[in-house]
Amino acid sequence: MNSLKQFHTFQLNHYANDVVKITSEDDFKALVGQILNKDFVLVGSGSNTLFLENLAIPLYVNEYLGKTLFEDNDFYYIDVNSGENWHSLVSWSLENEVYGLENLALIPGTVGAAPIQNIGAYGVEVNQFIDSVVYIDLVSGEINSLTNLECNFGYRDSIFKHELATNSIILTVRFKLPKEWSPVLEYGELKNLECPTPISIFNEVCSIRNSKLPDPMIIGNAGSFFKNPIITKLELNRVTELFPSLPSYPLKDGTFKIAAGWLIDKAGLKGKEFGNVRVNPKQALVLTNHNGEAQGQDVVLAANKIIDTVYSTFGIKLEPEVRFFNKDKEVTLADYYAS
Ligand code: EPU
Repeated sequence: MNSLKQFHTFQLNHYANDVVKITSEDDFKALVGQILNKDFVLVGSGSNTLFLENLAIPLYVNEYLGKTLFEDNDFYYIDVNSGENWHSLVSWSLENEVYGLENLALIPGTVGAAPIQNIGAYGVEVNQFIDSVVYIDLVSGEINSLTNLECNFGYRDSIFKHELATNSIILTVRFKLPKEWSPVLEYGELKNLECPTPISIFNEVCSIRNSKLPDPMIIGNAGSFFKNPIITKLELNRVTELFPSLPSYPLKDGTFKIAAGWLIDKAGLKGKEFGNVRVNPKQALVLTNHNGEAQGQDVVLAANKIIDTVYSTFGIKLEPEVRFFNKDKEVTLADYYAS
């Protein structure tokens, strides 16, 4: 039996029979004919994955490494294999004077996971710098490439959570970064940077993250546990009438993204403990396995309590950003709770 603690950053106290490392394209080819998240589970760093029970199907760990930098007149391109660590890529790109990824510093996880949920932070989403994504089709065995547009990127969303959710594995991501750099400083705490450089933004982002997000190497957590809800203007008006200080951000399609962390905080849950799971006292959107003892049931209890309390306070339904697995498949929280 292998402890699953080391394979997912929430470090729940469960086990797997079979853990296999993947280090080459051939290792991926050997999985053709199987269904992802049903016949097997694949993790990079496991920073968005929670194992609610002991795992009865094999766990594959992506350690497929390698990256290549090249350029044309206007852009740098980096082809990066999916098992590379995300933050190391950000640091490496800056060391090579390739700029653009600095706002995404310190996001836990691997490069292959980045497009799946279109990771984002401090005014930047990774899809802004993705040129194409190469994946293996687990049904046909073909290796295909999707353009940025074909990936259907959205807020924490992409084709890899829908049509390609169980029948593909990302092998390589091609990043395309303009040689002409322009800083993204719209996020509150970055606005005050004087004479911003890619390195000063990188340092500032690292310092903001370190000040409010627990280091998953020290305290088990999976970053933002819930997505920021996207609501209509009508719903926003309803909530802001009662709670005028609700932070909201207009989106291009006329809807509004609102801060889930604020909702949890204002519902009085910040710092609260549910069994072995705590709502982080510095950023309520993050739940932690603060004593290292949490099991799946603690997480399910905590998440449902938070969803119910936020719903009864604001009439807004939070949805998890993290993904859950029971013994042999991916599950939603609602299904797991009902079972
Ligand atoms: N807020 C509170 N109380 C809290 C937490 C937040 O009042 O306990 C308020 C903040 O004051 C702010 C607003 O809510 O006005 C938004 O908070 P914050 O800037 O910390 O960002 P977030 O919306 O909670 C998102 C991403 C993070 C990303 C940050 C920074 C999601 C689900 N989360 O969080 O991503 O780092 O913005 O850009 O979109 C992650 O996905 O794992 C992650 C950490």
